[in-house]
Amino acid sequence: MREGATPRIEPIEPAAAGHALYAVIGNPIAHSKSPLIHARFAEQTGERIEYRRLLSPVDGFAETVRAFIAAGGRGLNVTVPFKLEAHAFADRLSPRAAAAGAVNTLRFDADGVYGDNTDGIGLVTDIEANLGVRLAGARILLLGAGGAARGAVLPMLERGPRALTIVNRTAHKASTLADQFAFAAREAGCLLSGGAPDIVEPQPYDIIVNATAGSLTAALPECDDRAFGPGTLAYDMMYGAQPTVFMQHARSLGARASDGLGMLVEQAAESFWVWRNVRPDGAPVLAELRAMLGAST
Ligand code: ATR
Repeated sequence: MREGATPRIEPIEPAAAGHALYAVIGNPIAHSKSPLIHARFAEQTGERIEYRRLLSPVDGFAETVRAFIAAGGRGLNVTVPFKLEAHAFADRLSPRAAAAGAVNTLRFDADGVYGDNTDGIGLVTDIEANLGVRLAGARILLLGAGGAARGAVLPMLERGPRALTIVNRTAHKASTLADQFAFAAREAGCLLSGGAPDIVEPQPYDIIVNATAGSLTAALPECDDRAFGPGTLAYDMMYGAQPTVFMQHARSLGARASDGLGMLVEQAAESFWVWRNVRPDGAPVLAELRAMLGAST
């Protein structure tokens, strides 16, 4: 390698005595709420962990992870832009990480590097446990066919919905996704279809999940207004201090709306389980974060 081409990695301190070391890796990372969430989970469960933010150079993911392992690191949460690289870095993958094609949780142990993806189950747990809406038997509409959508499909199918329709601005990506999960859908007894937004049925769905990146730019994904009704839960995977445009739109059509803050907390709870074999309670941590966000979302 050319001299100077190696990205500089910050030295990584080992954890305090008697503590296991974890971190969230990303770039940027300063905004991450994961250290607070995991500190609360550790308090709740009595697990002795130290959880940090780990900034990696964009071209230095593998090197940073190796340095973290060398410092005694036991596991990582992985965020933008490294979820695909984490998938490639893992020696073994959970079925849901293999299906998602992306990894948000790494565990380092004697067997090597295990990669998992807890984003989809985080979504499902938030909808079912925190929002009280059952996926079993539901008609679900999934907007988007990128990484976030792909990670959600298998965990949703495993809950046994009656129908799952995936639509995307670029239609072929939605139909490819539906093809990829056709077998899992048959197993689950779920009617799975994918295509352009014009396949959305003109009657209210039980659950509509916005997995597009539209909320980042205040863009509303195309979707027939008649898909929203008073019995619809409209769920945006994004969150912020204010309701997203998708949430506002859904409410204006009479639907109930939620942002993705609970998904963030529940994916963290599942990662904690993957690392520690102990399951924390997401609800009080979600309530605390919600209060900190200071919004009436
Ligand atoms: P992520 O990992 O967050 O899912 P991604 O893989 O880049 O990110 O996927 C982004 C998704 O948001 C895609 O489904 C994208 O649609 P295209 O496949 O047609 O690009 C969707 N998306 C982004 N901006 C959008 C917008 N303004 N309206 C509708 N869909 C949008």
